[in-house]
Amino acid sequence: MVTQFLKPDEQGLALAAELLKGGSVVGFPTETVYGLGANALDGEAVKRIYEAKGRPGDNPLIVHISDLSELRPLISVEPDEKALRMMKAFWPGPLTMIFPKSDLIPNEVSAGLDTVGIRFPSHPVAQEMIRRAGVPIAAPSANRSGRPSPTTARHVLEDMDGRVPLILDGGACAVGVESTVVDMTGETPRVLRPGGVTAEQIAAVAGSSLVDDAVLRPLGEGEQPRSPGMKYKHYAPTGELTIVTGDPEQVGKYIANCYDEAVSAGRKPLILALDGNAAIYGDRNVRLLGKDAAEMAHSLFALLRDADTLGADVLFSEAVEATGVGLAVMNRLGRAAAFRIVEV
Ligand code: TXA
Ligand code: MG
Repeated sequence: MVTQFLKPDEQGLALAAELLKGGSVVGFPTETVYGLGANALDGEAVKRIYEAKGRPGDNPLIVHISDLSELRPLISVEPDEKALRMMKAFWPGPLTMIFPKSDLIPNEVSAGLDTVGIRFPSHPVAQEMIRRAGVPIAAPSANRSGRPSPTTARHVLEDMDGRVPLILDGGACAVGVESTVVDMTGETPRVLRPGGVTAEQIAAVAGSSLVDDAVLRPLGEGEQPRSPGMKYKHYAPTGELTIVTGDPEQVGKYIANCYDEAVSAGRKPLILALDGNAAIYGDRNVRLLGKDAAEMAHSLFALLRDADTLGADVLFSEAVEATGVGLAVMNRLGRAAAFRIVEV
C-alpha cells in the first residue's frame, strides 16, 4: 500500500472523506495526539485499525464526533446533569467520556464491553474530517502498538508508512498527551486515564471526581483494570528508563553520577531534564523536557521517540509533581519506565 502524506487542504480533506466512506483508515491530527480513524459504525472498517496498529483485540477504541447532536444515538442512556455540565465545560476538547453503548456501536469498537468512550475533539481538521465523512470516527492514537503516541504527522509516517492509505499533516499537536478518559457510568466521574482536562477541573464542574488508583502504579499480577489499555506495555523507549524524584539539586547529582557510571560501563546514557535544572549536567547528553508539566506533556512523546533514534540504551528522567496536567505526564512517564522510580 502506498501512503499519501497530504496537507489538510481541500484536496486532502476530500480524499480523507472518500477513504473513510469507503471503509479505509486515515491518519489525522487532533489537539491531543494524532489518531488513526475509521467509520465507527462499520465493524469491518474498524478491524483495519487494529491490523494497522498491531493492537490487541480486547482494547476498545474511542469514538469521535464533530457535533453534540451526534452523541445521543451512540449511547443507551440520557446523559445526567453532571455529564451535561462536563460537556459544556470541556467539549470540544481533550476529554473522553464513557457511557453505556447503544446497538449502533459494533463489537470491534467496544472490544466486547457494554460501554463506549466518546470524544468531541477541538482540532479544526479533526472536526472538518468527521463532518465530511458524515459518520462518527473510531480512532486510537496513530502509533504502532507499544510505541509512544505520535504528536507530529512525521511520527505517524514512521509507524504507519505502507500500512494506511493517507496521513493528513496538520502540524504538531497542542496538548501532546492523549485525552482524559473518564468513566461516567458510576455516581462520581472516575478518571481512568489522566490527560489535558485535569481531575481538579472535573471536580470543579461535576462537584467531585475520583482518580483510578492504577494511574500511578504498575498493575498487580492478574489484576483486571477498569480501562483495558492500562494493562499493556506502553510508551516505552528501547533503552531502560529510570525516573528520579526529590530535591532538584540532589536529583541532579544522582543522575549525573548514574550517567558517568553508565559511560564508564560502555553504555550510551541520555538525561531528560527540566529546563531549570539542565545546567547541572554540563556537557552530558541532555534533552530538555520544558519548564513545567504542560511543556513536558507537549514534548515527552517526541523525546521518547528521539531516545530510540539516538540509540540511548539507558535513560534517566527528572519528574514533576503528579497534580493537574502533571498527573497525566507522570502516568505516561511512569509507564514508559515500568514505574522504576528512585527517590533521592
Ligand atoms: O486523545 C485521545 O484520546 C487519542 C486521540 C486520537 O483522540 N486517542 C487515544 O486512543 O488515545 P487510544 O485507543 O490510544 O486510547 C484509548 C484508551 C485505551 O486505554 C482504552 O483502553 C480506553 O481508552 N478505553 C476506550 N474505550 C473504553 C471503554 N469503553 N472503557 C474503558 N476504557 C476505554
Ligand atoms: Mg494509544
